Amino acid sequence: MVENMETAVLLFDEELKLKAINPAAENLLQASFRKLLGHDQDHVFQHNRECADILTTTLKENRPITEREIHLKLITGNTITIDFAATPLNRAQEVSEIIVEITQVDRLLRLARDSHLQEQYEATRQILKGIAHEIKNPLGGLRGAAQLLDMELEDETLKEYTNVIIMEADRLSNLVDRMVGPNKPLNLQPVNIHACLEHVRTLMKAEFPEMVNIETNYDPSLPEIVGDQDALTQVILNISRNAVHAMLDAHEASTGMPNTLRFSTRAVGRFTIGSIVHRQVLQLDIEDNGPGIPEKLQASVFYPLITGKPEGTGLGLSIVQSIINQHDGLVEFASQSGKTVFSIFLPLVK
Ligand SMILES: Nc1ncnc2c1ncn2[C@@H]1O[C@H](COP(=O)(O)OP(=O)(O)OP(=O)(O)O)[C@@H](O)[C@H]1O
Ligand SMILES: [Mg+2]
Repeated sequence: MVENMETAVLLFDEELKLKAINPAAENLLQASFRKLLGHDQDHVFQHNRECADILTTTLKENRPITEREIHLKLITGNTITIDFAATPLNRAQEVSEIIVEITQVDRLLRLARDSHLQEQYEATRQILKGIAHEIKNPLGGLRGAAQLLDMELEDETLKEYTNVIIMEADRLSNLVDRMVGPNKPLNLQPVNIHACLEHVRTLMKAEFPEMVNIETNYDPSLPEIVGDQDALTQVILNISRNAVHAMLDAHEASTGMPNTLRFSTRAVGRFTIGSIVHRQVLQLDIEDNGPGIPEKLQASVFYPLITGKPEGTGLGLSIVQSIINQHDGLVEFASQSGKTVFSIFLPLVK
């Protein structure tokens, strides 16, 4: 039962050494049981004072203690916000073990915000679809009329003008299509995500030969996922291109750091996307050491037409968002100067 719980649970002995830990806790602490077993709480919680105080007080006073919103630094260097509850177990009136339950609060907040965001994106997409429809109908008429006119024209020099009408109509129609996002159904098949990543790596090397230093950290044991290979490649490419553009821009202002893009994959147990709890999901991180997403864009980058570049169309990330949605996945980012990570979560086992 504890194995399958979504709450992170740890068991410490009377010397505050770790005896047991469930998969949810391994996930939350981003460390494996193997690495933590037998270590004392100082190591497990990375010398967090509050956690140490709670555990020693629980031990000394033999009573349960709960504390909210502790900022816990993880072994990986990330910091999360948690609620921490310690309960003593007794044998012969003495505390023999302590059970610790941890819930990550920023994660709950984020999930709530996500479903709110999803609704907003859905609403925007519906509005765009409506506008797209209204634009494309008359556009079709315009293009058709120009074509007829073109055939009637005897003066070759005048055909230049009808050509402009046709070409511009196509360009606009194209833009509208891309704005609404992919509307063809996915071509679902088993996909090896590492093959997609390696393909993008090759493409990026060809596109930016002088700059790209792409590091990889793959979990080779990951199973294939069911998805659309081309669409997922597009997702990785859009995110990677943004990263490289940002790094190159900043490089002109000179940060002195070598531009590095990092692809990593891993499996994550029990992960909630929308209202569905997945037994296992694939996490794909695309990290760059560029200048970060401008603060004022952070809340809206996934919307269509939001761009920080003079020549940008602002469609890259909105396409990413809709493809990942089509895959029942989740995409999010964390960005600060020197480190931007886009994380994609895709169901492995439903
Ligand atoms: N890794 C990143 N680092 C810094 N800024 C980023 C990063 N990724 C995205 N951005 C910012 O988010 C904006 C939106 O990205 P998006 O891909 O949607 O549009 P775009 O790149 O401007 O245009 P398009 O992709 O359509 O050519 C970018 O213009 C950029 O300002
Ligand atoms: Mg882009």
